[in-house]
Amino acid sequence: MTNNVKNISITGAAGNIAYSAVFRIASGELYGKDTKINFKLIDISDFEKKMFGVKLELLDCAFPLLNSVEVTSDLNKGFGDADCIFLFGAKPRGKGMERKDLLESNANIFSIQGKAINDNANKNVKVIVVGNPANTNALILSKNAKNINPSQITSMMRLDHDRAKALVAEKTGIECSNVKNSFVWGNHSSTQVPDITNIINAASGESIIVDSDWMVNDFIPRIQKRGAEIISYRGLSSAASAANAAISHMKDLLFGSKDILSVGQYSCDNKYDIDTDLFFSFPTNCSEGGHLINYDFEIKNDLRKFIKETERELLEERDAIKHLL
Ligand code: NAD
Ligand code: LMR
Repeated sequence: MTNNVKNISITGAAGNIAYSAVFRIASGELYGKDTKINFKLIDISDFEKKMFGVKLELLDCAFPLLNSVEVTSDLNKGFGDADCIFLFGAKPRGKGMERKDLLESNANIFSIQGKAINDNANKNVKVIVVGNPANTNALILSKNAKNINPSQITSMMRLDHDRAKALVAEKTGIECSNVKNSFVWGNHSSTQVPDITNIINAASGESIIVDSDWMVNDFIPRIQKRGAEIISYRGLSSAASAANAAISHMKDLLFGSKDILSVGQYSCDNKYDIDTDLFFSFPTNCSEGGHLINYDFEIKNDLRKFIKETERELLEERDAIKHLL
């Protein structure tokens, strides 16, 4: 058996997304079959008992790769020596709310956690922020984790990315895995800009030309509002699809990917004329070492004005939490 061991910290561990994620991670879906896992499950103290139930279920699976499970509400313990961190812990929105309405209740969580990650995690830690509003929470986290390079912190746009790919596949009849170069710009919100103006069918190598009326009037709003659509049916926000996206995102960041990805990342080089101090989703390649490389795509059609709108929303969100930066 392997001697590789990784420490994985998960906040919101008593919640819905975590419940869909931990069993898959423990089975080896993230680090593969050669790496053992130490889990640190973190939630608020009122939920320690519930987390203990999750721990018992994890143990009952007898996963060969699961080395240990610690349950805690102490952030310093929870982030201790973490190699990778999933930040699910935050309030979800209900019907009729926008994700940015959560800023007031969730923003503080990420300033406190940023400091605790800074003080306790491994220096090469990779962090994914999922709790909403994810991009601005990632900015708060990064500003409070002063010794962690902002490139090690990302916010989750993968669910939007996968939603876009699936809808294109449904519309065109091309298999999801053959839809390439579809990605999402900006904020994980109803202003995000899913961009399918560069897509190709990987099976034939040919460009896929989509009807521009369909793209602007049907496809883009559908992806922008997909989270709300799920809430309207489930009465709860997406959880299994969010967990799936979080695992895919982290795996690509740890091991690289040849695909174009959508990653909420620190905008530091004014690329595409986007403000330099935001967490913004760009089309990105990821090297084997997990290094993010923004890809050069021409912004086509009228998408530039939509991209400016999602940037404007992020600037407003940043302004609302400037005391935490
Ligand atoms: P949930 O309510 O089921 O679970 C959230 C958990 O977080 C709860 O157990 C809660 O006690 C815990 N928590 C709250 N404050 C905490 C803190 N300070 N430290 C640790 N844990 C804390 O919610 P969920 O369905 O798991 O969703 C979690 C978050 O993820 C929500 O904000 C939701 O909107 C967001 N989300 C984001 C995406 C995305 O694509 N970025 C997708 C789906 C959901
Ligand atoms: C989603 O996109 O499903 C999540 O961000 C949950 C939400 O509030 O929409």
